Amino acid sequence: MRKKLVVGNWKMHGSRASNAALLSGLREAGPWNADVAVCVPFPYITETALALTGQAMSFGAQDCSAHEQGAYTGEVSAAMLADVGCRYVIVGHSERRAFHHESDQLVADKAKAALAHGVTPIVCVGETRAEREAGQTEAVVKRQLAAVIHTLTHCIGEIVLAYEPVWAIGTGLTASPEEAQAVHAVLRMQLHAATQKSDAMRILYGGSVKPDNAVSLFGQADIDGGLIGGAALKAADFSAICRAAG
Ligand code: 13P
Repeated sequence: MRKKLVVGNWKMHGSRASNAALLSGLREAGPWNADVAVCVPFPYITETALALTGQAMSFGAQDCSAHEQGAYTGEVSAAMLADVGCRYVIVGHSERRAFHHESDQLVADKAKAALAHGVTPIVCVGETRAEREAGQTEAVVKRQLAAVIHTLTHCIGEIVLAYEPVWAIGTGLTASPEEAQAVHAVLRMQLHAATQKSDAMRILYGGSVKPDNAVSLFGQADIDGGLIGGAALKAADFSAICRAAG
């Protein structure tokens, strides 16, 4: 039985004051039966770590460099994330693939850099609306995952995978539980062919997860939790989603 995981992706939101209020709301609402983490903007990682001292909740970042260290102005290495205690790092979010032109291979290299430093990469895959309408959903997510499998080889079992249909992110449109499950099953099969650990791996769903749809999504056989955007910014909503996973 896989333990569910719920991860809040704060994206580029927050301030010291609003983060403190949100984290204190979560401290009061928890603990939950599911594993819970928040992935926060870089400048707030250390304060988040302090706020979560002694809590079961973990924390992480939203991106890392594929490079080890050096003259890469503006980049943050996986070693730095490990140094400040990050448990997770999101890589390959569709916003980075779209706005920063990140390729499948770059995403795979970032996942490898994270694992090399003991930070668990949450690798995002997902199709656009046009790709879904063209019947390419399976081909797209399999291509995105294949690059990661090829690069990580036997370490693939150490990642968390997240299926986030691009058309469902921040739109209020959600894949139906059945639509999401169908893609998760395809991804699990692909993992199964690559590692004996596939049954233990967690595949999260992301894209307009809210308290009122979380139970039905998390009830699907291959949906092992969620990657939450907008609803992760409100303590009441995020904790309701964590409860739905418990
Ligand atoms: P929303 O929950 O706001 O749709 O965002 C999902 C997401 O992109 C999480 O990474």
